Amino acid sequence: MQKVLEDYIRMCYDGFLQGWHERNGGNLTYRMKEDEVADCAPLFTQHRHMDLPVTLPALAGEYFITTGSGRYMRNVPLAPEKNIGIIKIDADGAGYKILWGLEDGAKPTSELPSHLMNHVSRMEATGGRCRVVYHAHPANITALSYTIEPDARTLSRILWQSETECAVVFPEGVGILDWMIPGGTDIAIETSKLVKDYPAVVWAFHGIFGTGADFDETFGLVHTIEKAAEIYLKAKGAGIVRTISDEQLRILADAFGVKINERFLD
Ligand code: 13P
Ligand code: ZN
Repeated sequence: MQKVLEDYIRMCYDGFLQGWHERNGGNLTYRMKEDEVADCAPLFTQHRHMDLPVTLPALAGEYFITTGSGRYMRNVPLAPEKNIGIIKIDADGAGYKILWGLEDGAKPTSELPSHLMNHVSRMEATGGRCRVVYHAHPANITALSYTIEPDARTLSRILWQSETECAVVFPEGVGILDWMIPGGTDIAIETSKLVKDYPAVVWAFHGIFGTGADFDETFGLVHTIEKAAEIYLKAKGAGIVRTISDEQLRILADAFGVKINERFLD
């Protein structure tokens, strides 16, 4: 099998093993490189056309691997051709063709508008480095969203203070969107605004979107955030008597050569 598909499938199943993908929960998209498209070209035997609810000229001609709507991450390694697929965005950015996979009439994830609009925002924010957008339902970060107001500063400070590496892994902080109906264009528009500033955005009472240049970076980001949320909730349950200070966060950022978001420090 093509290496890019192997790597993509591994990430789907790794998320399932973490317990982040109950039932059909969560979805993954990857913007393919030219050589990966060439490797996969022999697979392109279908031309099913679908319209997008938004027009995204910035993605014209791009190829994406996507999970299927209603499909289970748990089943991706067993039958990739049924549970994931490859799509190509039309030249005008108003629709796409399914070229491979998503067999038996499957469609791309219902969160495709959020994924594609997040790709546009992160391509701009990272000078084209970002290729992965990942949505998961991890229990701890979702539980944490019940304990705070939906405010990026509050959330980012909690996470930075809950595990020393956090400020190095996501010095910009993490955004948070208040509850909205999932699966549509409205939540996509609001999420894609937040990911201009943050590599990850929590959906209150739902889950998280993480982005990155490759599968390792993206999975690692979500893993780090989820672990920090777990530590925070455990520490909160036990009773927090002290935490990492703002002074220590600044020293840490200096030592690792990252630019921490000063707006979130006192
Ligand atoms: P899909 O099955 O359409 O990908 O939806 C899962 C999900 O997590 C919605 O937010
Ligand atoms: Zn979801």
